[in-house]
Amino acid sequence: MAARGQFSTRIGFILAAAGSAIGLGNVWGFPTNVASNGGAAFVLVYLILAFLLAYPVLMVELLVGRHYQSNPVNAYRKLTGNIIGAIVGVIGLLTVSFILSFYAIVGGWIVTWCLHYFAMALGMTEAANWLVTFGNMRNVIFTVIFFVLTAAIVRNGVSEGIEKWSTRLMPLFFLIIILLIIYVATLDGAGEGFRAYLTPDFSIITDPELIINAMGQAFFSLSLAVGTMLVYGSYISKKENIVSLGIWVAVLDISIAIVAGLLIIPAMYVAQANGVQIYDEAGALISSDGLLFSVLPSLFETMTSTAIIVPIAFFTLMIIAAVTSSISMLEVPVSFAIENHNLTRNKATFLIAGSILLISLIIVFNFGSLFGLVITATTEWSQPLLGLVISIFAGWLWHRNNILEEIKEGNPDAANGLFFKIWPWYIKFVCPALIALMFWRSL
Ligand code: PHE
Repeated sequence: MAARGQFSTRIGFILAAAGSAIGLGNVWGFPTNVASNGGAAFVLVYLILAFLLAYPVLMVELLVGRHYQSNPVNAYRKLTGNIIGAIVGVIGLLTVSFILSFYAIVGGWIVTWCLHYFAMALGMTEAANWLVTFGNMRNVIFTVIFFVLTAAIVRNGVSEGIEKWSTRLMPLFFLIIILLIIYVATLDGAGEGFRAYLTPDFSIITDPELIINAMGQAFFSLSLAVGTMLVYGSYISKKENIVSLGIWVAVLDISIAIVAGLLIIPAMYVAQANGVQIYDEAGALISSDGLLFSVLPSLFETMTSTAIIVPIAFFTLMIIAAVTSSISMLEVPVSFAIENHNLTRNKATFLIAGSILLISLIIVFNFGSLFGLVITATTEWSQPLLGLVISIFAGWLWHRNNILEEIKEGNPDAANGLFFKIWPWYIKFVCPALIALMFWRSL
């Protein structure tokens, strides 16, 4: 078996893991949730849950991954000492594969929208319209293209593929999002959007629906419980202080969600100022796919053609967000195939990307019945339940000495730190109880 890959620099890991975390969940899911869950009330609950629940679970994955230097199936098998761990690893691996199967379809749409504006700029109106008209043919072609992009990076390995592309793309992402926010802030109507975003409706802050949405959003956004962070953790050098790496990733991800809200919510109100409908018949803000693929494009339509750079920048931003996440999803089953089935990376990438593409195509051809179902099953059921199980693994089955040793690697003073004193206890009692409680309430 080939030697395991490793991130070559500290910043390389941070950008790759932040790239995994920062995705459509931040730029689309988060603002959508804000729009449909009482604005800043959702932001507040999200912040609390992200730090109090998601960050500790992120640390479980990073620590388990680095400790066992392996994919989730082997790592949890060793941790539990029996087949149950392996089964949980396999469920994680399947979950992330199904997440990729719908994510790639959406990723394909984003590519079509980006190309749509290029075609418009070139005066190719017919092609431009075809690109953004829902149809099987278009969906198939661009889902395939999205898989090709993802696989082309993953086949080059951890440092030469994932790390290299994340360090190239993520700084560009940060730059584009800042420029777009500044631009949107100068438009008419943006002020009202900022106000709507930043004024909480406290009356719904304890609404179980809101809290559950915030938990799901936090788990999805931090790429938790499906093995992604575990695998990335397994590529971190033992010399690194893993606690601070985890903080970096969590803070970047959470900040970018908040920042994306500063872009999308004001943009919706600018759209309204330009005559675009942003409330549906029931009086709720238009959200979910309507937000990304109807409200914002109508906004772009109202801009002059000289401003075509704006939608192109916007959808480029979305492509970067999507690809740096999809590579981290594909890496989970790929690492398993390489380590447990002795495949070369090239073969493993090709075979697995091809199999998940098949699932995507089945979804495309049964869109009405499968698309929503796969999203609900993976992100609302599987992810939180896996989160519950792995915090129980780490809290109750993992030898305390192993945990403490792993925290101390690369961080000799760890024993005096707050994390060291609180986290093992916290992950044992608080995390499982919180997740179980919320899950139970959501039923
Ligand atoms: N965190 C990614 C996003 O916000 C999605 C993701 C989920 C990535 C699970 C990897 C694993 O879009």
